[in-house]
Amino acid sequence: MPRYERRDYQGPSDLRAMQEVTRRLWTRCKRWHIGDLAWRRFERLGREPDWRTALWERDGRPVAWAWATVSGSLDLHVDPGDVELAEEIIDWYGEGGGGTVTLLDSEKELAELLQSRGYQERADGPYFIHLSLDLAGLPAPRVPEGYTLRAVRDERDAAARAAVHAAAFAPSRVTPSRVTPSRVTADSYLQVMRAWPYRTELDWLVETTEGEPVAFCLVWLDEESGVAVLEPVGTDPAHRRRGLATAAILGALHEARRLGARTARVCARGDDDYPSARATYQAMGFRPYARNVTFVPGGLR
Ligand SMILES: CC(C)(COP(=O)(O)OP(=O)(O)OC[C@H]1O[C@@H](n2cnc3c(N)ncnc32)[C@H](O)[C@@H]1OP(=O)(O)O)[C@@H](O)C(=O)NCCC(=O)NCCS
Repeated sequence: MPRYERRDYQGPSDLRAMQEVTRRLWTRCKRWHIGDLAWRRFERLGREPDWRTALWERDGRPVAWAWATVSGSLDLHVDPGDVELAEEIIDWYGEGGGGTVTLLDSEKELAELLQSRGYQERADGPYFIHLSLDLAGLPAPRVPEGYTLRAVRDERDAAARAAVHAAAFAPSRVTPSRVTPSRVTADSYLQVMRAWPYRTELDWLVETTEGEPVAFCLVWLDEESGVAVLEPVGTDPAHRRRGLATAAILGALHEARRLGARTARVCARGDDDYPSARATYQAMGFRPYARNVTFVPGGLR
């Protein structure tokens, strides 16, 4: 077995190293895109104590990363040529208490390895699907009367972006348990805007004619693969079902295409407890191609 060196996460330069492995290994059969990592790491402030994150290198080159929460969930990304390294990653995870592990359903070798270690696929509970859209022939964005559409201009828009994000992700009175309340703030949004590969041209807002932001879509472009990821998308509950999320998405995707994107990918809840996001993407022509699967340690169900 090759010798691997583990490096514990020290700060944003290690996120860049994780993004480089992620970018190098991108295929539709892998779960992670460079934009997912940037959003997840920076959307909120003060999360670092909740995480254990590490990278593994072979001959000085990063070939895997793992990101565990103290509450017991693990995400990992492993070069398919180094799949046996997952054994070491599971041991490292166990040293911190262990818990569940989530993969993309196409990561069969990793799934087999987990099963050989006593993990079992969770049969129920919420899960995410991955959907994609070919960007050829994208319709032009349209907003109804009373709204305008634009890209974010600069960091002075951070507070407005954070406010509309919080409005979209606030638990509603009708369905209080379905959405996790947002802890995105102007300061955390600034952190997102300073992360690679964020670009203001790919961050779109719908506003009322009075200038109140009411819907948004942020797109992350991987110029090497030509894959643009939507993360996140939302509309203030008072303005839903007027085509505003669709308009923000189309605004951002047209710009992404101009910058070289050929395909878009988005993740949405696949279970029937939370159908609205999936329905929005499917109404635009996104089609599901994969889903996440969560494995629980033997004995836990
Ligand atoms: C999902 C969400 C972004 C949709 O925003 P929206 O502005 O209402 O979406 P649109 O008006 O552009 O919807 C376009 C189409 O999507 C479908 N759709 C949207 N919401 C739907 C729902 N709740 N139920 C069924 N279909 C829905 C419909 O086909 C709709 O067209 P129609 O209104 O003519 O029937 C919004 O509900 C939201 O912010 N939810 C909370 C945050 C979230 O889950 N974000 C996505 C994950 S990152």
